[in-house]
Amino acid sequence: MSQVTIAMPKGRIFEEAAELLRKAGFQLPPEFDDSRKLIIDVPEENMRFILAKPMDVTTYVEHGVADLGIAGKDVLLEEERDVYELLDLKISKCHLAVAGLPDTVPSDVAPKIATKYPNVASTYFREQGEQVEIINLNGSIELAPMIGLAERIVDIVSTGRTLKENGLVELEHITDITSRLIVNPVSYRLKDERIDEIVQRLTAVVEEV
Ligand code: PRP
Repeated sequence: MSQVTIAMPKGRIFEEAAELLRKAGFQLPPEFDDSRKLIIDVPEENMRFILAKPMDVTTYVEHGVADLGIAGKDVLLEEERDVYELLDLKISKCHLAVAGLPDTVPSDVAPKIATKYPNVASTYFREQGEQVEIINLNGSIELAPMIGLAERIVDIVSTGRTLKENGLVELEHITDITSRLIVNPVSYRLKDERIDEIVQRLTAVVEEV
């Protein structure tokens, strides 16, 4: 059984991803859940986990230091990476949306759009035939319209709480997002049996929606 290295996203997706792996019968130690370790070896399963920032999972997989990874579709849409998407895990459901303050008077010139998804946002507005200026931020995107940095934002909406508590409204739904299992193409060739087995076990526990 070949050893596999899996890049796991720290943060929101982590818990659901760990639960799914356990449901699929992988024996993950308790330290998995509340450790500060960035590399966790699970010799019983011949697995090594790398705990990465969600936006970095694709980097580890593309460079082949992780064979597999769990990444949000938002990240996969934003960055064109040389990785294969193997399975929709149907966890961490949310969507990408355009939002802004209610009653914003549209500007005559190209409106400013704040986002941490500049490529997704540019493509979306180009397809809509609207000329915009993209402002790239790394987080707390909702701040931008509130302090006059941008007219609208493109961001992830999950429960909708962040928008609501900051007085913003959703204006357009861009696309639904879930987490995906991704693989490095070379790893897939070299470790196909092991990886297929993991995909089959996960497929069996993915919950249909
Ligand atoms: C994400 C997203 C929104 C929030 C949406 O931010 O960018 O701010 O979650 O979730 P909600 O609809 O359930 O309120 P995240 O917490 O990942 O941090 P960030 O601000 O650093 O992007």
